[in-house]
Amino acid sequence: AEKKMWGGRFAEGTAASMEAYSESVSFDRLLYAEDIRGSQAHARMLAKQGFLTDDEAKIICDGLDKVRAEIESGEFVWKTEMEDVHMNVESRLTEIIGPLGGKLHTARSRNDQVALDFRLFVAARLAVWKELLASLVRTYVDRAEEHRETMLPGCTHFQPAQPVSLAHHLLAYCQMFKRDHERVADALKRVRVMPLGAAALAGTTHPVAPAVVAEDLGFEAVFANSMDAVSDRDFVLEAVFDGSLIMAHLSRMCEELIIWANPNFGYVKLPDQYSTGSSIMPQKKNPDACEIMRGKTGRVVGDLMGLLVLIKGLPMTYNRDMQEDKEPFFDADRTVSASLGIMADMLRLMVFVPEKMAATVKRGFLNATELADYLAAKGVPFREAHHITGAAVAYAEKKGVGLEDLELTELQEFSGEIGEDVYAVLDYQAAIERRATPGGTGPKSVAAQIGALKEWLGSL
Ligand code: ARG
Repeated sequence: AEKKMWGGRFAEGTAASMEAYSESVSFDRLLYAEDIRGSQAHARMLAKQGFLTDDEAKIICDGLDKVRAEIESGEFVWKTEMEDVHMNVESRLTEIIGPLGGKLHTARSRNDQVALDFRLFVAARLAVWKELLASLVRTYVDRAEEHRETMLPGCTHFQPAQPVSLAHHLLAYCQMFKRDHERVADALKRVRVMPLGAAALAGTTHPVAPAVVAEDLGFEAVFANSMDAVSDRDFVLEAVFDGSLIMAHLSRMCEELIIWANPNFGYVKLPDQYSTGSSIMPQKKNPDACEIMRGKTGRVVGDLMGLLVLIKGLPMTYNRDMQEDKEPFFDADRTVSASLGIMADMLRLMVFVPEKMAATVKRGFLNATELADYLAAKGVPFREAHHITGAAVAYAEKKGVGLEDLELTELQEFSGEIGEDVYAVLDYQAAIERRATPGGTGPKSVAAQIGALKEWLGSL
């Protein structure tokens, strides 16, 4: 029992099954760099507060550098009986520098230590998400600029509705990912709050200076309540929620790409690099990257659900349950980071097929609203104009042609208000151009959207 750091009051050793059950070092070793950075900042603070001499702090910090080097070179021996990353690092430090290592944990508990390490880790990963989101938005903007003139059947209810530019469609995704970026940036304010100094739960009798550690580690704020500091995991949940929403947005794009890549649509050719073949059907090119991403979305949502259930019944303050907070975040982070990178790569490489999109626009009576609006502009009540246009659509559909293919005399059967000028109105590209309202699909609005997004990207 005495080999445990906390073994003083124990007569019996831990059961082997308990050791295997309760250890976290197999996964929380990912936090080693943050654990070491946090401990070094803590040692410097203790010196500043006069608790350690400058020499002692230096010996501790140098010793921790050695531990990090051992971990990074692979020679470090991780010990399950040391439970977690924190005790593995500290016990190796003490082996290297001797009893002075035992002073490091003054005024600190693993409860505030793990909170700090995890906050440092989550903050670093969220910074990476922000970069990945920005570069995805940049890629969307690039592709949108190429396709300002490309016409796409815009859908509601997944039924062809009105023509839009492909640029406008792609820029809609930019707005989602821009909001995601803003959400992550906002979450970071609540991640970068210093918990060290809360100690086990009640604060400490030692003269700690959390603000000094906060400044050292680049955190903007310091905990207001020590009990909250060691029991708050909101920052992880928020991060994984943001990740879930990012995945949901990616998954919507994946769903569209899967449909667009189907030969019946043929709007897009997905890059070979992100597609796979079939072992039996030689003609197949499957959109596997998109399918996997759509599938992995469920996994990240599952991570979020797991975390919500994890904290929902926990009394104040630290409870060992909270050790289960790491793996869902690690899993979500791996998934979100990889997915954002892959979507940006695919988007750069995919080939859009404007002719296929245009052909569908022309087949789907996507200019019916134009005719109804045209009649309304001539004074026909819109409800009536809608009805007249519906009848014209039914007639053209029976004939197997578009509204614009009907003779003027045929169109006039439906309303005497229809004149030769109707054909300009029925033009599909013109329908896009006429939607000149702010934020609409018209070219001016698309240009303004692109300009604003570029400005935003430039400001990051
Ligand atoms: N491995 C633990 C965790 O991840 C570290 C904190 C343990 N603290 C304690 N008092 N047992 O939550």
